[in-house]
Amino acid sequence: EPAPLIDRHGRTIRYLRVSVTDRCDLRCRYCMAEQMTFLPRAKLLALEEIAIIAERFMARGVRKIRLSGGEPLVRRDIGDLVRRLGRHVGHGLDELTMTTNATQLAEHAAALADAGIRRINVSLDSRDPDRFRFITRHGDVDQVLGGIFAARDAGLAVKINMVALAGLNEDEIPSMLAWCGDNGFDLSLIETMPLGAIDEDRTDRFVPLTRVFEALSEQMTLTRDSYQSGGPARYWRTPWGTRLGVISPLTANFCDGCNRVRLTTEGTLYSCLGHDDHVDLKAALRDGGIDALDAAIDRALAIKPRAHDFRIDAPAPAVARHMSVTGG
Ligand code: GTP
Ligand code: 5AD
Ligand code: SF4
Repeated sequence: EPAPLIDRHGRTIRYLRVSVTDRCDLRCRYCMAEQMTFLPRAKLLALEEIAIIAERFMARGVRKIRLSGGEPLVRRDIGDLVRRLGRHVGHGLDELTMTTNATQLAEHAAALADAGIRRINVSLDSRDPDRFRFITRHGDVDQVLGGIFAARDAGLAVKINMVALAGLNEDEIPSMLAWCGDNGFDLSLIETMPLGAIDEDRTDRFVPLTRVFEALSEQMTLTRDSYQSGGPARYWRTPWGTRLGVISPLTANFCDGCNRVRLTTEGTLYSCLGHDDHVDLKAALRDGGIDALDAAIDRALAIKPRAHDFRIDAPAPAVARHMSVTGG
């Protein structure tokens, strides 16, 4: 019986996030610089290796896997990976899910649903075409909305992720919540986090969600919802019956309840989004097989920090790598 995954602070790991590519077809201003250097393809884990590692995590107690990136749907063999991992849903795995920018979701939605995905998170920071183009630098909001509705039509539950940005979309939060409510989508608001160099200063854009939540509560009744997605959000029930999630790493730390680790495209494991320490699972697996893999995973748990140390007054990159490397 392989040992369960418990870190040195007593937290049990049940959630594996997998970045299947660091590439993306968009360049969201808070996430990436306009000019990015991506990993050479030769350095990527093969699909088979991702599956072996993910299955080892399942054997050791992981119950939820999220495929992320970069943009997971730009990886060519993503459908094969989803089908392979989807076989475990209901047999050890409670949930296989994905976070996507939805530019290519219309083409993939039905296949994802067939493979066992029930629920998907889509990044949508504005519904205004010009703003959306500005924030993402390349995006076409109609294409993304088409992807979102295709997902809904395929039977997938959709949660919208919106990073709150001063001067860019903060004023749009109430109308986004209403639109999500009207369409049956949950909405998670996210505080921008200082990962990776971008072409601007994140301080100027940072919006404390405490402020947003207070303003929303004055306009409508929000009731605390005990729902737990297994992720970092706290949830409230909205007047539409949908949920409002709040992900506030900077104003309300949630690290005590951390249940997750992150596998990168390159096969390294990060035990915290906000720290640089990592272990090389790819080398362990290639050189020593499953026993070496287990030992490397245990090393990562032994160094898992108690918390990130992102700071509001220092939103310059706390961590040099971009969020796309570790999949958020
Ligand atoms: P659910 O399964 O729906 O709860 O999704 P999730 O919140 O776990 O995943 P998603 O990919 O939608 O991430 C939403 C935001 O939460 C992203 O900005 C992530 O970077 C952030 N996030 C997820 N896990 C952590 C974490 O452990 N620490 C911090 N600081 N942010 C996290
Ligand atoms: N801070 C907060 N959220 C971010 N995302 C990407 N970069 C950042 C950042 N620096 C969000 C995306 C996506 C999710 C996986 O993470 O918008 O919804
Ligand atoms: Fe791509 Fe998502 Fe980053 Fe935007 S936030 S550039 S869609 S990975």
